Amino acid sequence: MKATAIAPSNIAFIKYWGKKDDELRLPTNGSISMNLSGLTTTTTVEFSLDYKKDLIEIDGNKNKKEIDRVIKHLDRIRNIAGIDKKAKVVSKNNFPSGTGLSASASGFAALTVAAVSAADLKLTEKELSILARFGSGSACRSIPDGFVEWLDGDTSDESCAVSLHEANWWDIVDVVAIVNLGKKDVPTTKGMEIAGSSPFFQARLSSIDNKIKIAKKVLEKKDFTRFGKLLESEALEMHAIAITSSPSLIYWTSGTLGVMKQVKMWRKAGFESYFTINTGQDIHIICQKHDAIKISNLLKNQKDVRDVIINMPSNGARLVNNHLF
Ligand code: PMV
Repeated sequence: MKATAIAPSNIAFIKYWGKKDDELRLPTNGSISMNLSGLTTTTTVEFSLDYKKDLIEIDGNKNKKEIDRVIKHLDRIRNIAGIDKKAKVVSKNNFPSGTGLSASASGFAALTVAAVSAADLKLTEKELSILARFGSGSACRSIPDGFVEWLDGDTSDESCAVSLHEANWWDIVDVVAIVNLGKKDVPTTKGMEIAGSSPFFQARLSSIDNKIKIAKKVLEKKDFTRFGKLLESEALEMHAIAITSSPSLIYWTSGTLGVMKQVKMWRKAGFESYFTINTGQDIHIICQKHDAIKISNLLKNQKDVRDVIINMPSNGARLVNNHLF
């Protein structure tokens, strides 16, 4: 059977940074995100006796590490389905990977939904989210629609993502600035392993549950100013942990810093927007719909900004009919 799925990347307003169980990929804290309409992965999976080995192609490349991770995920699904057929997988991102735009979130969400369907399994949204989590933590948040919470949970069964609000709940916009070229040198998984070495990590954990409560409240009220301030300070807090980890991790480049400073200036000039950053140099600017075009034009004029992608809140991963092979 052949199946194809499309999944959005997501931007975390409250971030996942650190694991309490590596094997099960249980995060040390819950997180809150929004699915992104303009950053997607499309993946086709076919299991067949005709394939003598797994054939994996991601954006036309055959990167060994990425392929091994995909095969491990296919094995999880083959185990559940009780099949031992090999698979062909073709996956395409509509945006650059390895630069901070969370291609692993959209990638593993699309792979999970396509492979589960190709293996003829019927899973609930919760089960899909848990399964996607094993591929990449943030992928579990790309399964439900719109604005999403990942509950940290103490067991695998409890650690899943749920939709807080549908995509049309709030028309905020994430204008992504793609900064320079180049891939991050320390992968997210490695960065997370050393999060606990930061002297500030425990301080973060002691206040994170309260932060999640406040984030949910301001999201519910659609209080843009409080929401923006919270998400920007949260991004800085996560990066403070990364920067003070041992060895220290600096994911920003001069282009990232340039945009961060500009956003603060635009705010003073009346274009209310706030930044957040994942692991990489690219930067997400969160603004209200009426400011999106203006902010996008301002970004295009920034030195070091190579491209701009406008994202609305979107639905989660879903099956589609147009196969990639
Ligand atoms: O799911 P991963 O292993 O790609 O980790 C995601 C980490 C951050 O993007 C920095 C934060 C988050 O919650 O998305």
